[in-house]
Amino acid sequence: MRTNQPQTIYLSDYKVPPYLVDHVDLRFELFENGARVHSALVVRRNPEAGAGDIPLELDGDSLVLESVGLDGVTLNEAAYENRGDKLIIASVPERFELTVVTWLEPQNNTRLEGLYKSSGMFCTQCEAEGFRCITYFPDRPDVMSRFRTRVEADKQAYPVLLSNGNDVDRGDLDDGRHFVTWEDPFPKPCYLFALVAGDLVEKRDTFTTCSGRDIDLRMYVEPRNSEKCEHAMDSLKRSMRWDEEVYGREYDLDIFMIVAVDDFNMGAMENKGLNIFNSSCVLASQDTATDLAFQRIEAIVAHEYFHNWSGNRVTCRDWFQLSLKEGFTVFRDSQFSSDMGSPTVKRIEDVALLRTAQFAEDGGPMAHPIRPASYMEISNFYTLTIYEKGAEVVRMIHTLLGPELFRKGSDLYFERHDGQAVTTDDFVKAMEDASGRDLSQFRLWYEQAGTPVLNVSDEFDAEQGVYRLTIKQAIPDTPGQTDKKPQHIPFALGLLGGKRESLPLRLQAGEQDAPTERVLELTGETEVFEFHGLDECPVPSLLRQFSAPVRVRYPWTREQLLFLMSHDPDGFNRWDAGERLAVDVIQSLVGTPKDAPVDSRLVTAYRHLVSDSSLDQALVAKMLQLPSEAYLIELAESADAPAIHDARERVLKHLAIALRDDLIACYRRNVEAGAYQVTPDQIARRSLRNTALAWLLQINDEEGRELALRQFREADNMTDRIGALRALVNSDYEADRAQVLEQFYERFKDDPQVVEQWFSVQAASDRAGQLPQIHQLLEHEAFDWKNPNKVRSVVGAFAGQNLAAFHSPDGSGYDFLADQVCRLDDSNPQIAARLVTPLTRWRRFAPAYSQRMKAALERIRDKAGLSRDVYEVVHKSLA
Ligand code: ARG
Ligand code: ZN
Repeated sequence: MRTNQPQTIYLSDYKVPPYLVDHVDLRFELFENGARVHSALVVRRNPEAGAGDIPLELDGDSLVLESVGLDGVTLNEAAYENRGDKLIIASVPERFELTVVTWLEPQNNTRLEGLYKSSGMFCTQCEAEGFRCITYFPDRPDVMSRFRTRVEADKQAYPVLLSNGNDVDRGDLDDGRHFVTWEDPFPKPCYLFALVAGDLVEKRDTFTTCSGRDIDLRMYVEPRNSEKCEHAMDSLKRSMRWDEEVYGREYDLDIFMIVAVDDFNMGAMENKGLNIFNSSCVLASQDTATDLAFQRIEAIVAHEYFHNWSGNRVTCRDWFQLSLKEGFTVFRDSQFSSDMGSPTVKRIEDVALLRTAQFAEDGGPMAHPIRPASYMEISNFYTLTIYEKGAEVVRMIHTLLGPELFRKGSDLYFERHDGQAVTTDDFVKAMEDASGRDLSQFRLWYEQAGTPVLNVSDEFDAEQGVYRLTIKQAIPDTPGQTDKKPQHIPFALGLLGGKRESLPLRLQAGEQDAPTERVLELTGETEVFEFHGLDECPVPSLLRQFSAPVRVRYPWTREQLLFLMSHDPDGFNRWDAGERLAVDVIQSLVGTPKDAPVDSRLVTAYRHLVSDSSLDQALVAKMLQLPSEAYLIELAESADAPAIHDARERVLKHLAIALRDDLIACYRRNVEAGAYQVTPDQIARRSLRNTALAWLLQINDEEGRELALRQFREADNMTDRIGALRALVNSDYEADRAQVLEQFYERFKDDPQVVEQWFSVQAASDRAGQLPQIHQLLEHEAFDWKNPNKVRSVVGAFAGQNLAAFHSPDGSGYDFLADQVCRLDDSNPQIAARLVTPLTRWRRFAPAYSQRMKAALERIRDKAGLSRDVYEVVHKSLA
């Protein structure tokens, strides 16, 4: 809790740490009423820090200091200054040992940073600045130390005691207590420290590395979850193999551990040798997890594992460099997922998230470059920009260099910086040095915020046979940044002829063997490209594979989009054309009378998708998803969410009525016998049949209803069960809705991960998630304010997915959110700050909405004792 205004921290103020800690020896005494932490630090003056007296300053947060000793002598209180957030010793020798004893209360830690308790077990989360909640320490990633950790606790209540590295000693103590000592041979920043103590079951496996070393793989979960580990374990082994094959990276310790905890602010954490996961991001079984969850788990397990090299062996110098590890690691996990499943589908999913949520962030008050220049609270910068846009920037380097040179670059980066804490610039430099390419202009991607807009125009000179493409780039102003310089943008394209053929792209007249796809490099504000030797005006297929995170504006006709939707050889662009067409149709209906006609060409195109089973069914399943409300709102100039919701629903109902028989046929065609498997083919089939169900129930189709009820009863997996549940919940069949919700809950009420899905199906539904019902969910026996997943599945799903209800014209949705943010701010500021996000977009909405959103933000701003986390988001939003 703070009273004065939080400070802004600037990258330009970076100074090397004045003191280094070579070794950390920790002893944790864990009790029910608190924990005592004994820390012994081997400290020395940093030779790079210059001469002169520099006081030793250690960070601390919410600690009770019991004692301080220097080289074996206990210091009296006059010898140091304890400011609470800093422990300062004015004068220290060149080298010394510092001992500090602190007392903390993990059982009362609701922020879930540092050491806390989750369903009876002790666990930690130290990134970014949680270690200072455990003991006084230079809590910054460029201080890297070897850790030795002894954990002591009651043997019966906490039989499993874990920390980073290898267990080197264990034994029994008095009073039924025991200890285990862990040693991590790799120097690491304290944000990678972890500890777990609990009554957990252990699942074991092994992995033999490329050099023939056997690695012990262990998962630790609560006994009730012991049957939900297999998928994560398999994903881990696939990740380990993939990182060897694709990046040449071998695992380095003898043990790799994964722990599942129920109360966790984020998805997971890459602590050295001891990854800690949010239960919802690691536990899965056919009966309880959807296809989406299976895929998410595989991706997150891979992500955390890949951090062992991109993050742990080579870490960040300071938190402004966060994208160094996160952007690169998201890029790596997306390559992995792409290799494990359907590359086109993976790309579509990534781009949909980027365009919907990251573009909105980049166009809002919290916009920041992937390497920010300042922040108030670093927890607020674990953003879609740092992660997803950061990954797109690495992906562009990969596109510009090609796979071989990119691999040379990553090899050089890992070799050059192993064991170091470095900057995004060091990463780019390694890519430059390995490839010989000049990336100086490309570096602007790290410095400039905002989504570049590419205005594309074309003309065809029939006489010369020349097609001329003009591309102008502009980067919008963002908070604190105007008049931006043009960036270096890889722009992949192809041209299609009237007979659906891919045309050769001749940049010079008479060019032989010209390719049918090129990656153009845009560097100037305006670039003109001429394609020679063409007999007819082609249809351009622009920004294939979404080769850069930009907005493309080109005056597509619906005819062109329909053509690309069926004939573009680039699967991603086929999907993109379909989405642009659907967006155009829906946008043209916003605010029109209920009976305004829907373009019949859309119906024809969708009929083709639903009924032609020779098409790539995984792609079709994606193409059948109408653009989301969130995306439509993001695209609108002055958004009226209920009107957008209404227009989208009208199009959906129109399509469902017109395609009713095709949908029934599609459903039946995709009901399969045979064992459940999480394969791209089966995922596509389930997605298709559940989309068909959802559409049929939107038009109160009696046969659809029966199919849904039967599927709900007979499903042998969660994807189908929840697909049927969602379709019924979103229908007008009120009695069925109540009944299936009740049955579902009764069956799964003991499984938190399933209950979370049950909450969010309701909270995201315009039928079951109106405010009075949301209030009932908050009162439900399974709801728990202390559990971030529950908060996200009700409050987050309501404000983020139930957009017509959230943007109710009377402002009640905004007031509701403001109330919940204020309530959570005292217990968990990180989660509170994240919940504010939908309100930060207030300037993008029509005046009637934006004024009320702003008022809700002001109400939050005026709450007494606002956390630094929420302070930053709210003040920047109102500035
Ligand atoms: N490094 C973790 C990951 O990306 C996320 C940790 C986030 N922690 C936080 N306090 N925001 O896998
Ligand atoms: Zn990460």
